[in-house]
Amino acid sequence: MKIGIILSRVRVEEKWLLEAFEKRGIDFERIDDRESVFDISRPDSWMVFDVVLERSISFARGLYATQILNSWGIPTVNMAHVAATCGDKLATSSALAKAGVPQPRIKVAFTPEAALQAIEELGYPVVLKPVIGSWGRLLAKINDRDAAEAILEHKETLGSYQHSIYYIQEYIQKPERDIRAFVVGDQTVCAIYRNSSHWITNTARNGQGENCPITPELNDLCVKAAHAVGGGVLAVDVLEDPQRGYLVNEINHTMEFHTLAPTTGIDIAGIIADYTIAVARKDIRLHSPIIQPPQNGQALWNALSHTLAEWSHLTP
Ligand SMILES: Nc1ncnc2c1ncn2[C@@H]1O[C@H](COP(=O)(O)OP(=O)(O)O)[C@@H](O)[C@H]1O
Ligand SMILES: [Mg+2]
Repeated sequence: MKIGIILSRVRVEEKWLLEAFEKRGIDFERIDDRESVFDISRPDSWMVFDVVLERSISFARGLYATQILNSWGIPTVNMAHVAATCGDKLATSSALAKAGVPQPRIKVAFTPEAALQAIEELGYPVVLKPVIGSWGRLLAKINDRDAAEAILEHKETLGSYQHSIYYIQEYIQKPERDIRAFVVGDQTVCAIYRNSSHWITNTARNGQGENCPITPELNDLCVKAAHAVGGGVLAVDVLEDPQRGYLVNEINHTMEFHTLAPTTGIDIAGIIADYTIAVARKDIRLHSPIIQPPQNGQALWNALSHTLAEWSHLTP
């Protein structure tokens, strides 16, 4: 058995992961995504890997690397379609909605005018987010119409391509915290509260970790959310609404766990290593969505429109 680990630079999480594989006596290879070259029609040198664990710091590199590997039949943790869904907040919200997982109300618009209308329909405050992003960057809590107009104009004038997709969420009056839960396969392994007096509670923004007990309700919700985006090794972020209870905010597919592991005392790196080894041994089988050969003209159209709908968010 041989395991590949794609990474960009070795953060504390990758250091713990490398140690976990070493401790288990596994033959593994570190692959730096800054140096990697893929020859699309010659997978030979990659076929030695039974599985590749993706720990890129860049969403785009991780996504495209896993897409190539999956197309060659090499499973990845997580699979490319899971990364595509989790890496894009709109794709995640659609998957959660389809699976009936409770989440904040979300509206999407493509022009500042339509976005302003959507914001006013939802009612203040709202949260505007780039569909691709992390660490709480470029999130805007908008409390009134003046702020809405200013942010929308700034996004239109200064923003890159993806800022023209207006992803608008109702603001959840959560207690001064949210919940980050770690899900592996069919189980929520552990969770922390991220406490902060700021409305953005990411630990990258000084949120403080505290152990969060996993109730059967929290476990069910997080596992359902993880399955909705394709499953694997995932971090599910949950907001507590005073009336509606748990709402899933987002799901991370290459999560950081520098706070989660010490706060809960759970060996997250060891669990990820064991899961990856189980995939290599084929004890766990991961699948890509497969396009069925069409039977006739109508079936071809159905297959194409389904595939386009599923992958359209990847087109730059
Ligand atoms: N709709 C919302 N209502 C209340 N708080 C929110 C909302 N959306 C995000 N937050 C806060 O902001 C943090 C970051 O938001 P998130 O959507 O997870 O973006 P990122 O991908 O940058 O982490 C969340 O952990 C939460 O504390
Ligand atoms: Mg988050």
